[in-house]
Amino acid sequence: MVRYVHRALSLITDIRADKIDQKRITLSWQDPAFPFINNTEYEIKYYEKDQRDQSYSTVRTPLTTVTVYNLKPGTVYVFQIRTSSSQDFSSYSPTIEVETLGELALVSTEQNPLIIIVIVSVAGFIVLLSMVVGLMIWRRQCGYSKASQDGDEELYFHFKIPTRRTYIDPDTCEDPMQAVHLFAKELDNSCIKIERILGTGDYGEVCKGCLKLPSKRELPVAIQTLRAGCSEKQKRAFLAEASIMGQFDHPNIIRLEGVITRGNTMMTVMEYLGNGVLDSFVRKNDGQLTVPQLIGMLTGIASGMKYLTEMSYIHKCLAANKILVNSNLVCKISGFRQMQEDKLDTIFSTMGGKSTVLWTAPEAIQYHRYSTASDVWSFGIVMWEVMSYGERPYWDMSNQDVIKAIEDGFRLPAPISCPPYLHQLMLDCWQKDRNERPKFTHIHSILSKHGQSPDKSKSTTSTINRSHSTSIPLIERTFTTFPSFNSVGEWLEAIEMERYKDNFTAAGYCYLESVARMTVQDVMSLGITSVEHQKTILSGIQTLRAQVIQMHGRGVQV
Ligand code: ADE
Repeated sequence: MVRYVHRALSLITDIRADKIDQKRITLSWQDPAFPFINNTEYEIKYYEKDQRDQSYSTVRTPLTTVTVYNLKPGTVYVFQIRTSSSQDFSSYSPTIEVETLGELALVSTEQNPLIIIVIVSVAGFIVLLSMVVGLMIWRRQCGYSKASQDGDEELYFHFKIPTRRTYIDPDTCEDPMQAVHLFAKELDNSCIKIERILGTGDYGEVCKGCLKLPSKRELPVAIQTLRAGCSEKQKRAFLAEASIMGQFDHPNIIRLEGVITRGNTMMTVMEYLGNGVLDSFVRKNDGQLTVPQLIGMLTGIASGMKYLTEMSYIHKCLAANKILVNSNLVCKISGFRQMQEDKLDTIFSTMGGKSTVLWTAPEAIQYHRYSTASDVWSFGIVMWEVMSYGERPYWDMSNQDVIKAIEDGFRLPAPISCPPYLHQLMLDCWQKDRNERPKFTHIHSILSKHGQSPDKSKSTTSTINRSHSTSIPLIERTFTTFPSFNSVGEWLEAIEMERYKDNFTAAGYCYLESVARMTVQDVMSLGITSVEHQKTILSGIQTLRAQVIQMHGRGVQV
């Protein structure tokens, strides 16, 4: 059994059923006492244990007790409780199962508390019995593995319960090894054949290989290894990532095949996706991928995020480099590495030269206020990365400049060839007030609607032929003709910014060619104090580039 321990912002554990009727259950629990969180509320989620349609109800209360009404007599209900303050939630408590009294309960339990004890004991016994039976069924149906070490035989169960909707934070399990075996199958080393190294991941080498389970066909897999000599903390994080991945079951989430924890090298074995990481994939295929294909990929990611939200999981570092693409262009979310909330430098940590700041919502950077809404912000950045064929968000701006620009109200402009409604959706995801940002359900519905309707996506069905531009670095591109303007002065007049002509000249931007290459950072260094005017100029630069592209029929990365 897994034992749950108290941690900061962690689980409510002491849940008691105080009163049980035919149609009502009263629960109470201990206040976990978070002195630093105001307006703590509790969210109680409950559903019928045997219900197949996966619906559930929730009720919120500021008290540490709740009575749930309108229940069915003689039915087992599953309850879970979590704390919430504004949009932040703790993890859900472990489940507690309580059965309402049956129709045949002849004596009012309010008159005889002894009967409550008897009934609760009987219900408890039934629940216990069904758990034992359930475990036996899992053992038969879901597959289990036996591992033998020093003569001790241990049983590991691998189960993906279709009715479980809430992710369990593996950190709430005392023993990470026990946690990983709750959610992941222990594989035998002999089932794995390593073929080649794909690269180096957070914990060690990532390899391509094959998994051959008895009476199953061979499966291509990616194997994340844990490098020898790593710290206890790294090992814990490695196992936690596998424990998280193992809880998900969705076509747009990377699938964990199992773990190898015995032997010299620990490994997590997951499905192999032939097209690799999304950001490099779109970069490599600039010119070949159509806009509807890009929208299709984003729809898949939104669907995966919707699922994670329903599981109460906050990703915290969603980015195109955390998404994998299979040979059918299906995108799958990965990178379930738990971030240390108490470490600001984690946010500034670099992954393959990329800082997470560029993807992180301002309230998460400033106050570590991570939520589904901060994941929505990151999703907006992923949309931008995809629609700009793998361009780096905010180009070469420094972290501090990005933070400042965002605070000043700047937002990434529409990538070339991005339909306006998609850029609007990005801007919605980047609302300063996180409560104003759309939910993943809404994002998914918009994306899938546009993906399906040929009329609406008319403006999106053609891609600008970018094939010539893919290999030419920005610096080497030459813009020889500008359709509407003959000089920087003329262009500034057209956008009513002629008062800044000297700023442009002093900074060396004397030709339209160099203006068209200006980055946000360049504009910010012109000495223009009005943010509104900086925005007007940036927007003018975008238009200038778009004109060039239309004229030359080729793409230019901003
Ligand atoms: N690189 C890292 N993980 C991978 C996976 N699951 N499939 C393909 N390439 C990967």
